[in-house]
Amino acid sequence: MKEISVLGLGYIGLPTASILATNGFVVHGVDVSQPVVDIINKGGIHIEEPGLKTLVQAAVNSGNLKAYSQPQMADVYILAVPTPITEDKKADLSYVGAVARAIVPLLKKGDLVILESTSPPGTTQDFLCPILAESGLTLGVDLLVAHCPERVLPGKIIKELIQNIRIIGGLTPQSAEQAREIYATFVEGDIHLTDVTTAEMVKIMENTFRDVNIALANELAQIAPQLSINAWEVIRFANLHPRVNIHTPGPGVGGHCISVDPWFVVEKFPETAQLIAQARHINDAMPEYTYQLLLDTIKDIPNPKVTLLGVTYKPDVDDVREAPSLKILELLQRNPSIEVAIYDPHVKHFEYELSGLEAAFKNSDCVLLAVDHAEFRFINPRQVASVVRHPNVIDTRNALSRKDWQEAGFNYRLLGEDATSQVRMAQPESVTFFEDRLFSTV
Ligand SMILES: NC(=O)c1ccc[n+]([C@@H]2O[C@H](COP(=O)([O-])OP(=O)(O)OC[C@H]3O[C@@H](n4cnc5c(N)ncnc54)[C@H](O)[C@@H]3O)[C@@H](O)[C@H]2O)c1
Repeated sequence: MKEISVLGLGYIGLPTASILATNGFVVHGVDVSQPVVDIINKGGIHIEEPGLKTLVQAAVNSGNLKAYSQPQMADVYILAVPTPITEDKKADLSYVGAVARAIVPLLKKGDLVILESTSPPGTTQDFLCPILAESGLTLGVDLLVAHCPERVLPGKIIKELIQNIRIIGGLTPQSAEQAREIYATFVEGDIHLTDVTTAEMVKIMENTFRDVNIALANELAQIAPQLSINAWEVIRFANLHPRVNIHTPGPGVGGHCISVDPWFVVEKFPETAQLIAQARHINDAMPEYTYQLLLDTIKDIPNPKVTLLGVTYKPDVDDVREAPSLKILELLQRNPSIEVAIYDPHVKHFEYELSGLEAAFKNSDCVLLAVDHAEFRFINPRQVASVVRHPNVIDTRNALSRKDWQEAGFNYRLLGEDATSQVRMAQPESVTFFEDRLFSTV
């Protein structure tokens, strides 16, 4: 069995290292963060992901996984470090550069280096390979190099690591073949081999496809009110067509993948990647659009209080990276006459103060739902109506029952329609509440 070094023990590296270890490989996990190394060596985890703790414990207890803060010699090196963007939307490859330079002194003939980090097209060939060449080894002959992008969904990482189809790009066919041998030990999905740049572009285009699709929905959400129709109804009916799948609108696109990866293409091809850039701009403008909707709703209320429901980048997770709510809050901060109370049942640490549910609603003049966390459907609007100052609610995700909120006396506004839209569409069903509770289900 080959020895494997996994460098970067975050959301991607840690599950990968653990799965390899439980499949019999001797795995050296490496992370620059000493606290991360210490936690893992005790069988613990430093990130939240269902099933991960059990997997890491099994890997560490088997004796096959040990974490280090310095790179360790191995036969295969898997690089899973961050690839964020800078303020000016350029790829930050400093982590990939640092980790590649760190393994150069350890490389020997016959080794395989696999880049897993999502990377701009050309990164493996033009950025990683020149660094690895400093080892003196002939790339593609003495030292094999591959790119195997990771496409798992947070919350389902363990399941998808095993079941997803994998795309492996090799610097040479032998590089791809060697990488396939490693992944085939635990991947149940099909494994497809290609070249490194195609593999890089596959991952980026998957996320770009979704970004462009969401931008289309967001553009429709701004057109539909001007026609006095409902964007959600248009999407629902259009999607009944067998070859149409329009995504849904919302207050913006966040997270560290969909809102980041398309910029990798725009940076390289600013003249050509017009549609991709435009989609990014449309989605990035949605927090401002949502903010204007809010201002319009509270325009006649002096010193209003706004209740922001949900701050994460998507429902039912605790991750706030690049979340649209951050931009909405930034805009609200510029308006000192508006008081803001934030409630998110999933988030424990946030750069703004968080409130309890009841305190968030008390004396509120407008509730703004920015994330469709499952719990929000079960907020009792009649109880909310009894504590707010003005019963206004803006639903940016079509997550609340219009009927329930209107019957409780609320002025219900949905992103993607105006007040005069003819509403025939099926909306989230009405919920039965315990009369005396704010947050209740039967
Ligand atoms: N998280 C996801 O859902 C997801 C999905 C698909 C692809 N990706 C991609 O995978 C890559 C890794 O993402 P992540 O979410 O695991 O990041 P992360 O921030 O969770 O983890 C990265 C880890 O790398 C460590 N690190 C940084 N520099 C290092 C170095 N020089 N040597 C060793 N360790 C180092 C950090 O301390 C951190 O623990 C990124 O390119 C990301 O875009 C992530």
